[in-house]
Amino acid sequence: MDHFAVIQSIVRAGFAGDREAFEKQVVRLRERLEKAGDTKDAATLERLRAAARDTQEMAPSRVETSRTLIVGEVLEPGINAPIDRETGAKLCTINFPDGIGQSPVYMASVAETVEGLLQEWMNEAALREVDVEPTRSLLIYGPPGSGKTVTAHYLAARLGLPLVTARIDGLISSFLGTTARNIANLFEFANRYACVLLLDEFDALAKLRDDPQEIGEIKRVVNTLLQNLDLRRNFGITIAITNHDRLLDPAVWRRFETHLQLVEPDERARDVLIARFLKPIAAPESTIRVFSYCLARRTGADIERICTAVKRTLALSGESHDGPGLFHALSSVLARTPYHDHTPARILATDQEAFVSLMANDGDLSLKQTEIGEATGYGQSRVSDLKKARRHLPLMEAMHAQ
Ligand SMILES: Nc1ncnc2c1ncn2[C@@H]1O[C@H](COP(=O)(O)OP(=O)(O)OP(=O)(O)O)[C@@H](O)[C@H]1O
Ligand SMILES: [Mg+2]
Repeated sequence: MDHFAVIQSIVRAGFAGDREAFEKQVVRLRERLEKAGDTKDAATLERLRAAARDTQEMAPSRVETSRTLIVGEVLEPGINAPIDRETGAKLCTINFPDGIGQSPVYMASVAETVEGLLQEWMNEAALREVDVEPTRSLLIYGPPGSGKTVTAHYLAARLGLPLVTARIDGLISSFLGTTARNIANLFEFANRYACVLLLDEFDALAKLRDDPQEIGEIKRVVNTLLQNLDLRRNFGITIAITNHDRLLDPAVWRRFETHLQLVEPDERARDVLIARFLKPIAAPESTIRVFSYCLARRTGADIERICTAVKRTLALSGESHDGPGLFHALSSVLARTPYHDHTPARILATDQEAFVSLMANDGDLSLKQTEIGEATGYGQSRVSDLKKARRHLPLMEAMHAQ
């Protein structure tokens, strides 16, 4: 048997419970496989390693922040949110952290920024030595469903602080004159208590700016907001969220020290999201790859919605909760979803055999025929026949002709 010496070392490290040695040997085996030209197996090993590392990272700990960074009284559950005096509507909602829960799933560069912020807040003294302060204002932007709001909740939970959330459109009163007062009242409340202030749907301001009748008033509102944002630096952390970063006033944009862009997950993040959202069904690795192939360029929220629909469909179908059961359920969920601009999803929505042929012929998707068989329920010889027949081509031509 090839590579038996490395496999022996892996087994030894596994039994000894030595994680570091275990991982080192797995890397060694991957390198041997690569050298031997077995790139598909090497890629599979690497994916398993990345996924395992992700599970380990899923137990985030609370961050201890310095009390000079966040000041104020303790915000207790009985304390009432400030209200709009004209309408009586609450100017914010207050969420108290209920444990930390799972971290949102990020691609590597985003995870680095998020962890970097938390590191800053933990190591304030080290920063002060070089005369800088931790970031106190963060602007999160990105398309709908990319995890902006969950990120703000996660950061507050890691800090162990309540999250005071205001929607800008809620602050903008129908009596425009009172908007500036609402903003002032909101900041006064947030500055009084130890909390993270979240300004969600921040672009509402920018939209208002386009209304020529309200120019004077909006200027006043923006100024009040800028002044309050500046003052808040002495009190605590502020997070603002927008879908349309380009609509924001440059003066507002500048007020935020760190800008965090969230986008659709990359392949690795997508795999982790799919495995998470398919739980409690433990999908085999090959199934996760198939889902991931179909859900490229989708946001986290899309992936969650589709996985939930798949679980519902599977539960009612009476099929077993394995690769083929999930595959059939995904196919019917995609068929019910009206529009896909992503070719694999469109093909699976239309014809399962054509989809098998597409996967088998796609060199970028390093899935072996046995794995395609495991994920779809087709026997290996049928996968091989479909591959040779290039069953997906007529469908693709028809799609391109449209
Ligand atoms: N990166 C992610 N990690 C984990 N879950 C995610 C991620 N992105 C989206 N989700 C899931 O999608 C749902 C919607 O995410 P969220 O509300 O944070 O999106 P958003 O960017 O704030 O969208 P909107 O602009 O529409 O307010 C969440 O409840 C979460 O389950
Ligand atoms: Mg949101």
